[in-house]
Amino acid sequence: MMFLCKLLNLSALLLILVPLIISLPHPHHDVHKRSSFFDIDCKGVFNKSIFFRLDRICEDCYSLFREVELHSLCKESCFTTDYFVGCVEALKLEEDWEKFDKWREILGKK
Ligand SMILES: *[C@@H]1O[C@H](CO)[C@@H](O)[C@H](O)[C@H]1NC(C)=O
Repeated sequence: MMFLCKLLNLSALLLILVPLIISLPHPHHDVHKRSSFFDIDCKGVFNKSIFFRLDRICEDCYSLFREVELHSLCKESCFTTDYFVGCVEALKLEEDWEKFDKWREILGKK
C-alpha cells in the first residue's frame, strides 16, 4: 500500500515536472527561433514560402558549421551578406543561385 502510494506520488510528480522541463528555455533555442522578416531588415514583399526557403539555407548552414554567429550573419540584411553566399556555396546550392538572387530581391527590395 505504501509502495503504491509512493508510486502514485511519483507519477503525479512526473506529470508536473516533465512539461515543465520541456518548456524550460533551452540555451540553443534562440538559434532555432526563426527570425522574422522585419528583424532582418527586409523591405520588400513578404512571401512566406520564399522567406522560409532562404531561412532554411541559413538553418542548414548553421547545422553544418555549428557557428551561432554565422547563423545570424547569414540572415543579416535580408540574406544579402557574403555569408549568405558562402552558405549557398557550402551547401552546394549554387545551381539555384539565380533563383535565390531573385528571391532576395523580392524580399529585400535591394
Ligand atoms: C511567393 O513566391 C512564389 C515563387 O516566386 C510564387 O510562386 C508565389 O505565388 C508567391 N506567393 C505569394 C503569396 O506572393
